[in-house]
Amino acid sequence: MDLDINIQPIKQSKINTIDFDNLTFGNVFSDYMFECDFVDGKWQTPVIKPYGPLTLDPSARVFHYGQAVFEGMKAFKDDNDALFLFRPDESFKRINTSAKRLAIPEFPEEYFFNGLKKLLHLETEWIKKGKGNSLYIRPFVIATEGAISASPANQYKFMIICSPSQAYYAGEVRVIFAQEYSRAASGGVGFAKAAGNYAAQFYPTSLAHKKGYQQIVWTDASSHEFLEEAGTMNIFFRINDTLITAPTNDRILDGITRKSIIQLAKDYNIDIEVRRVSVSEIKEAARNGSLKEIFGSGTAAVVNPILGFKHSDDVFELPKITDSFASFFKEKLTNIQYNTSEDPHGWRYKV
Ligand SMILES: Cc1ncc(COP(=O)(O)O)c(C=O)c1O
Repeated sequence: MDLDINIQPIKQSKINTIDFDNLTFGNVFSDYMFECDFVDGKWQTPVIKPYGPLTLDPSARVFHYGQAVFEGMKAFKDDNDALFLFRPDESFKRINTSAKRLAIPEFPEEYFFNGLKKLLHLETEWIKKGKGNSLYIRPFVIATEGAISASPANQYKFMIICSPSQAYYAGEVRVIFAQEYSRAASGGVGFAKAAGNYAAQFYPTSLAHKKGYQQIVWTDASSHEFLEEAGTMNIFFRINDTLITAPTNDRILDGITRKSIIQLAKDYNIDIEVRRVSVSEIKEAARNGSLKEIFGSGTAAVVNPILGFKHSDDVFELPKITDSFASFFKEKLTNIQYNTSEDPHGWRYKV
């Protein structure tokens, strides 16, 4: 179905003012944004309009109760100027899973896909060719109703904004395994991409920074014994030649990169175990030399090697290895994303 979308054209593109060789992740935004309001019990006709500030009532629920969810996706351009998304059906499902948990009305599928397609066709110039270049896409929903009673809003705004990005390099990443703070609790909202999950990590993560660690690997809130995920990445451990990652649960985000790596591991006959993994197991493996790698997975960096970790007073540095699983999976995934390999699971979505 070709959905009605109001398009308000920009007067002039700002693309020529952007230095595409020196982009900081998430600081520059493209010409347009997609906006759709939920009013009177339904999603209204969407608008694509020039990127710019919003006017919201100061009593909008999002400001007071954090009723907000989001997604993170990327668009890629191949050598023939064709545009692709990576598993957008998964992002669509996940934003509605998140929305449901935050008592936000679900967004219709055809709005999501038609909105994305129209928006990306207007923004093709913002998607540069070449491995590493992409357009980061941020769909999000906020509660806009102006009324500060602590209950779900009756009005929402669904938006999509886009930010051009280069190959994402998070720098050298060493992590602390959480012992004091928790990211999520059972029965809570950890599995949702709820805005507040991220705000809650800023303070403990800033304490980690002061100690010289870039990220925290969160552990289960009750025992702090089982490793779950990092701030914006799922976590994989390689012991000898076996890859291990925690099963998702209601405290862990069901990462799209994570599930793709699990599938690729099966495709390439790499031993993969999806099971609980304890701090003591990983420390023991680090001590006896069987821990070969730790890496994070997520849309921004795809795969991010972790060089070392700290737990209590114990500090471990991982061995430098060639032929890492991290680079193997990054290569396989980016080949699919940039249309330079077969796509046996149909993950590439042509825009
Ligand atoms: C908490 C958290 N875990 C894991 C991930 C990785 O998920 P994905 O691979 O879908 O980007 C993200 C990023 O989206 C995240 O925010």
